[in-house]
Amino acid sequence: MNNRMKNKQIAEWFGCVEMNGVYKVAKIATAIVENESTKTLVFAENRKQETENSEPKTPYPGQFIMVWLPGIGEKPFSLSGNAPLAITVAGVGEFSKKLISLKKGNCVYYRGPFGKGFVLKGRNILLIGGGYGAAPLRFLAKMALAKKANVTMIVGARNKSLLQKTKVKGAELLVATGDGSEGAKGFATDVMAALLRTGKKFDCAYACGPEIMMKKIAETCKKNKIQGQFLLERIFKCGIGVCGQCAIDDKLVCADGPKFERDEVLALKEFCKCQYDATGKKVELKHR
Ligand SMILES: Cc1cc2nc3c(=O)[nH]c(=O)nc-3n(C[C@H](O)[C@H](O)[C@H](O)COP(=O)(O)OP(=O)(O)OC[C@H]3O[C@@H](n4cnc5c(N)ncnc54)[C@H](O)[C@@H]3O)c2cc1C
Ligand code: FES
Repeated sequence: MNNRMKNKQIAEWFGCVEMNGVYKVAKIATAIVENESTKTLVFAENRKQETENSEPKTPYPGQFIMVWLPGIGEKPFSLSGNAPLAITVAGVGEFSKKLISLKKGNCVYYRGPFGKGFVLKGRNILLIGGGYGAAPLRFLAKMALAKKANVTMIVGARNKSLLQKTKVKGAELLVATGDGSEGAKGFATDVMAALLRTGKKFDCAYACGPEIMMKKIAETCKKNKIQGQFLLERIFKCGIGVCGQCAIDDKLVCADGPKFERDEVLALKEFCKCQYDATGKKVELKHR
């Protein structure tokens, strides 16, 4: 049986239309409510599709998939799990709200996983996630714990109802909310600073969330001689380094990243400043 026939068979199994091998089909096995606006979609295992449609490697934290909802659009989402594949989606606009409205048994199309993800460095690691940025870090925490690393995780949000505080067994979890409704009042970066003041040492910090938060973390890491890895976001179109939409300085976030090292991030002039909007116009980055 040729690949086209195999794809068709897989799509039929899912009850979906086959898409010429460009897109894979993922059926939602579980939709987990993380908070009032965020859900984790866990996809049904389909090892047959994974092995027969390219990417022999296991997807890893920090990589993303391009999810396509026909008639609505296509957007990138970081993986929040790989066995089975999962994404965690905050409903903020048309696409993401539609995605989190999908139910168990519904299908989505996707390309990927793409991009360069996190690389584990050292035994003592600090993970800092703002908003849905906590999701790929939970995935990283599980992987690091399996390799016997000591994991401390800080999650932050504006308030309790926006927190993603699902605990990873074996990791220390610290919480910060802007209004103090849970954990320490303030930012995740305040909790990081307090932790460092206690004399706690880390080999590497991993961060995902608002750029203003990541900038502060990168600066703190440099000052304290801690390595750092950061997941950047820009508006993506192709997701594979072709269109240039996601450029930041001379880098393409989709292909050179989305993971960037501490000093790379600090050297980027457009980090925390600007991005290309969906029409291709360079605009100021709204800090969120
Ligand atoms: C590499 C990469 C990984 C990503 N991973 C994830 C992920 O794991 N989970 C996830 O939910 N999204 C993720 N995103 C963002 C995602 O691709 C979409 O941009 C997001 O879902 C919004 O799309 P939308 O069409 O629903 O809303 P849009 O129409 O793009 O935006 C609607 C409104 O919401 C605002 N908005 C957009 N994003 C946010 C935000 N994060 N917080 C608050 N307001 C916002 C916009 O400014 C606008 O006002 C990722 C993006 C990239 C580049
Ligand atoms: S989204 Fe096209 S080059 Fe990155």
